[in-house]
Amino acid sequence: VEQDIKHMKTTIIGFGNQASAWALNLRDSGHDFNLLVRSESSMIRAKELGFEARLIGQIDFDPSECFILLLPDQAHLAALKILEGKINPDALIVLAHGHSFAYQAINQIYPSFNFALLAPKAIATELRYNYQHKKNLGAVYSLDGVSQEKKSLVRTHLINLARCIGITDGPFESSMKQETDADLFSEQTLLCGLYPFMINAAFNFLVKKGVPAELAYYECFEESYLIMKSLHQLGPKAFFDMISPYALVGAHKAQSMLIDQHMLEKMEQLWSEIQDGSFEKMAHESASQLLIRQQLNNFWSESSLYKTFVKINGENSI
Ligand SMILES: NC(=O)c1ccc[n+]([C@@H]2O[C@H](COP(=O)([O-])OP(=O)(O)OC[C@H]3O[C@@H](n4cnc5c(N)ncnc54)[C@H](OP(=O)(O)O)[C@@H]3O)[C@@H](O)[C@H]2O)c1
Repeated sequence: VEQDIKHMKTTIIGFGNQASAWALNLRDSGHDFNLLVRSESSMIRAKELGFEARLIGQIDFDPSECFILLLPDQAHLAALKILEGKINPDALIVLAHGHSFAYQAINQIYPSFNFALLAPKAIATELRYNYQHKKNLGAVYSLDGVSQEKKSLVRTHLINLARCIGITDGPFESSMKQETDADLFSEQTLLCGLYPFMINAAFNFLVKKGVPAELAYYECFEESYLIMKSLHQLGPKAFFDMISPYALVGAHKAQSMLIDQHMLEKMEQLWSEIQDGSFEKMAHESASQLLIRQQLNNFWSESSLYKTFVKINGENSI
């Protein structure tokens, strides 16, 4: 592991959420890397954690073979434009999410670079926490943008890199588009859509039936966390072995009534909107983003679930 990382001279670009977790984990794994950032503020954040960063604008040339691009996905193109000419034309660019490759075709705009993916399936704080506490962490990788003759070397490098940032499960191979679309479909759409709105619908339903809001809040909001925590810890089989007979019957009834052909057809529709790019177009347009943000902001500010959340948790919780 160590030999391979030491052989491929590496530079992390950016010092945001993922970059700080990657940098801390790599350092604790005993591996050297350079750090390139855009602004003084990133430089200061890095310094506070003991890292020496250089400004992208001030370097003439960085001879590293591997650049880990840990910037917001919308910033990848702009960053590559600045880096082009300042790094080796056939450098390996490692992404932590496939979005800019799948939807902005960065490999076609910059065909001489090799683009690979190492996507931890965890938010940055979890990447750091799980590394420190030796807990499991999963990731996927892709070699979609890597030239044929470099694939084997890059695969080894990515797997070693994964171990050094604390990935214990996998990394599993996927394509850039599969990683991006699965993330858009599940995390960004179904999970962020269904959980809050399903909790809200159940809460409102109970309140309408005369149940006190505080009780409805505990039953719908707090319980959803406890259930997800147990499901996650035990896995689906042991979870269902453990729950009460009432929950067993309830779960069977609810899932057979709610997850029907109609719902599967809606999933099909969401998937095709992701695949044909219309989802991407909408998410990219700042006007539609702004409108939806305002609508949801008003919706949640006015919601009884939010007001009950604040009442129970206090103003400081928001
Ligand atoms: N967050 C997650 O949970 C998560 C999980 C898995 C994968 N990922 C992926 O990891 C990558 C990084 O995400 P993140 O959430 O860590 O990003 P982030 O925290 O928003 O990144 C902020 C950093 O990007 C820099 N930056 C922004 N625009 C730039 C530009 N045009 N040129 C140069 N630097 C620029 C900022 O520099 P300044 O301070 O100078 O503005 C700052 O250092 C993304 O590809 C994301 O999809 C994220």
